[in-house]
Formats: sequence, structure tokens, C-alpha cells
Amino acid sequence: MTILTHRPRRMRKHAHTRKLIRENNLTTSDLIFPIFIIEGENKRQSIDSMPDIKRLSIDQLLIEAAELIELGIQAIALFPIVPSKKKSLHAQEAFNPNGLAQRAIRAIKQKYSNLAVISDVALDSFTTHGQDGLINDEGYVLNDETIKVLVKQALSHAQSGSDIVAPSDMMDGRISVIRKALEENGFIHTSILAYSAKYASHYYGPFRDAVGSSVNLGTSNKETYQMDPANSNEAIREVGLDIDEGADIVMIKPGLPYLDIVYRVKQTFGIPTFTYHVSGEYVMLKAAVQNNWLKEEQVVLETLLAFKRAGADGILTYYAKQAAGWLK
Ligand code: PBG
Repeated sequence: MTILTHRPRRMRKHAHTRKLIRENNLTTSDLIFPIFIIEGENKRQSIDSMPDIKRLSIDQLLIEAAELIELGIQAIALFPIVPSKKKSLHAQEAFNPNGLAQRAIRAIKQKYSNLAVISDVALDSFTTHGQDGLINDEGYVLNDETIKVLVKQALSHAQSGSDIVAPSDMMDGRISVIRKALEENGFIHTSILAYSAKYASHYYGPFRDAVGSSVNLGTSNKETYQMDPANSNEAIREVGLDIDEGADIVMIKPGLPYLDIVYRVKQTFGIPTFTYHVSGEYVMLKAAVQNNWLKEEQVVLETLLAFKRAGADGILTYYAKQAAGWLK
């Protein structure tokens, strides 16, 4: 027999010791479910590019919310799908007090005050060109002009009862202006989840199909405001700025291909850090599962646990509902 000083396998022999030394755990309270909402009543629309995900009318959203609460989910993120006749160059529909997002927020909060609502602050669903901001004649997204609209949008969400407003637009300086406006209007308890390091990613494709912005966007991209996937130090700078400007939570997006960023951000700032397991990452898993190439429950729970290991406190994932079922 060899005399070994170290046998790391000793701690792996039994399930009890494996569990005792487990460094990270995935729980249902880590999961946030993104939901697409549409006008109308009694509608649950399938999405071609996103298997098992539905677009819901507000009455169906309420039914869904009850199921999510029952499963132990604490938060949802709402994404309205705005009819094209309501889209415009100046995105006025974004701050309509009776817009789809605003009505959905009110409906949820009236019925389920304990379910946190995260509302998306960005103009892509409301512009005829599908960009997250207002553009000039050359199609360049204008920073300061866009922020003026984002502030109105964020305030209208807060007025509707949103718990967490989430600017996902990547304009410079928008967090401080939104924070100031919220404070001045008495919304001192409305939190800001800043999409601080949001990359110009090709993993957003299925989402853009789901909300219908890909048609409007055409062949243009978002590279003049979303980050270059090659950069890491720049993410640290972006997160630092948003924290200084008053962000309560920061977001890294996409998720799995950017776990190094999640890790660095959490190590550097130690602030609540969320990550978005985006549509393209979701469909990669779904496609493999549908082909029987991967076992769904096992591979999804492993993937979501990896986010926790990297340092994420919250995970936005289209798998939230299914995962909550498995964790139960
Ligand atoms: C835009 C927005 C995007 C997503 C959420 N909000 C995509 C984009 O920048 O076009 C993508 C989320 C996903 O892919 O699941 N404000």
C-alpha cells in the first residue's frame, strides 16, 4: 500500500461528506424569471425561437405569477411586446402611464405584493428602428437625449409600483440621473439594477425575435453602446461608474460565456451581482435536450450552479420555473 498524505478522494467517498463540504448551493431564491407580456386577454403565445417559453397577456401573467410564487420564486423581470403601431422615433410609449409594462406592473403588485417586479428600462421595444435609444440622421444612438426618455420611463415604472428598475440600455450616466429623479419624486425604496456590463452579443437573437425588435433592427447592431466581447477591464470600469452613480445591484450579460467577468466584478466590488443567462444560452441547452444529447435537469442545474460559484447572487434565466420545480 502506498502511504499518501493527501487523499482528496476521501471526502468524496460518501454523500454525507460531499454535502458537508459543498462550497456553493443553488436555491430557488437565486432565480429570476423573465416574462414576455403582450396585449389582449387569455393569450399564451408560443415563441418559435424559444421552446417552452410563452408570451402572456396580463390576465395570464397573473396566473403564471401564482404558480411561480407557489414554486418559491421571488422575482420576475417583465419585457413588454409593443404593437408596431405604438412604436415611434421618440419612443413616447415607453413612459405612457397606461402602457403595457405599466399596466402589467400594477396588476402584479396589486395582487402579489411579495413578488418582486423588475422592469426593463430601455427603448428598443418602443422605437421603430429597434435601437435602445434615440438616434440621429446617421443612425447613431444619442446618449444625453436618450437619458431624458429613460428617466421618464423609469419614473413611470416606479409610479406603477415596480420594485427594481433595470436600465439595460448602456447609455453613459443614466444611473445617476435616474437615481436623482427617483429620490426627488419620493421613490427612495425603488432599487436600481444596472445592466453595467452588457456586451454586444449574438446570444440575444432569440430574445429579439421574441419581442419583435429584430425586424426593426434589421442589419444594424448595438456596438456603439454595448460592450466589446473582447474586453474585461472595461467591465470593471463600467461597474465602478454605476456603483458610484447609485446602482443597488449590477448585472453582467450574457452569463455563461462571461463568467470570468462575473467573478472579477464580485471579487472587486463585493456588491449584489446578477447575471443574465440569456435567450441564446437557453436555446443552446433546449436544442441539445430536444435532441436527447444532454439530460435536461442535470445539465441545467449544473449550469445554474456555475453562476453561483462564479459569484452571482441572482440569475435571470428562462429556466427559472423549470429549475424551481426540480429544486422543490
Ligand atoms: C434590450 C435587451 C436585450 C435583452 C434584454 N433586453 C437584447 C438586446 O440588447 O437587443 C436580451 C435578453 C436575452 O437575450 O435573453 N434592452
